[in-house]
Amino acid sequence: MSLSPVTARACANIALVKYWGKRDAALNLPATGSLSLTLDALSTETTVAFDDSLTIDELSLDGHPARPDELARASSFLDLVRSETGIQIHARVTSKNDFPTASGLASSASGFAALALAATRAAGFTLTPRALSVLARRGSGSAARSIFGGFVRMHAGMSSEEAFAEPITTVDPAFVARVRMVVAVVGGGVPKTHGSRDAMEHTAATSPMYRAWLDLVPRDLELAEAALAKGDLEALGTLAEANALAMHASAIAARPSILYWRPATLAVLAEVRGLRATGQAAWATMDAGPHVKVLTTDEDAELVSRAVVDIPGVTAVTVSGVGGPAAVVDAAAVVSLEPTAK
Ligand code: PMV
Repeated sequence: MSLSPVTARACANIALVKYWGKRDAALNLPATGSLSLTLDALSTETTVAFDDSLTIDELSLDGHPARPDELARASSFLDLVRSETGIQIHARVTSKNDFPTASGLASSASGFAALALAATRAAGFTLTPRALSVLARRGSGSAARSIFGGFVRMHAGMSSEEAFAEPITTVDPAFVARVRMVVAVVGGGVPKTHGSRDAMEHTAATSPMYRAWLDLVPRDLELAEAALAKGDLEALGTLAEANALAMHASAIAARPSILYWRPATLAVLAEVRGLRATGQAAWATMDAGPHVKVLTTDEDAELVSRAVVDIPGVTAVTVSGVGGPAAVVDAAAVVSLEPTAK
């Protein structure tokens, strides 16, 4: 028996208030909430086909067979899908990232969101967006947010079912339409020094700044939501830059230190300050890598992009608008069963 393949697409997201630390590693429960922006220029398209002729799961990433560790991570995620849907057979998974060439940008958010949607649909189930977000979280914390478009809030929750993301629907659509993110890739996509999973665990275990970080996040979430409610990009950007620096400060203070920045990272940060000093809308954020993402507007995106593209060490620049929710893009003859009651 083999079920019809299903293809789903999900966009990456960049946190404006970061998730950095877990309170339960097995369930992948975040220590705090977070808040993000979904980006249309960075996406993953994933096809899943369950097929009983397979003896193991198969995974191809960007046209190549996945590494054993990548396959193991996808396969344990598929085990969750199998246990939720009752499907017993293995799957063939084909995934393609539409990211700036060799960027090394994190693709786990869009990757696990697309995999959660494609795999559950290929198994014949239509989960609610909330249940899909909970499932995607088990693959990668940030993937819970990539189920949704626009600005998204993630709840830390009291239990696994309560740790889900949801779109912030009260933001003025004109404000959303104006927002851009300029992604400056630093260092040509060399694999990152510490994966986020290990790095946040190491920060939590050894950084004297970790407690302060946990105390800060709820306050920053409130400020970010207030800025969004007012459509105040300056307040949101100022807060996002400060929050990213606080996250990195906690990681830098870990022992031994986790320092993702390269000289070009600092050069982009300095340029962003310079742009602000001359009245441009530009605020920086960084994740578990050397790249810098600059929050800006449609009017200023071109100027920001030109200002950072020639900085030595910056190897690619992409301007992105706001992305939409994860969606099935091809579901030929999907077996239709009752939606699960979660
Ligand atoms: O989803 P993960 O486990 O790759 O962690 C994401 C961590 C950051 O990107 C640094 C912050 C965030 O909230 O996305």
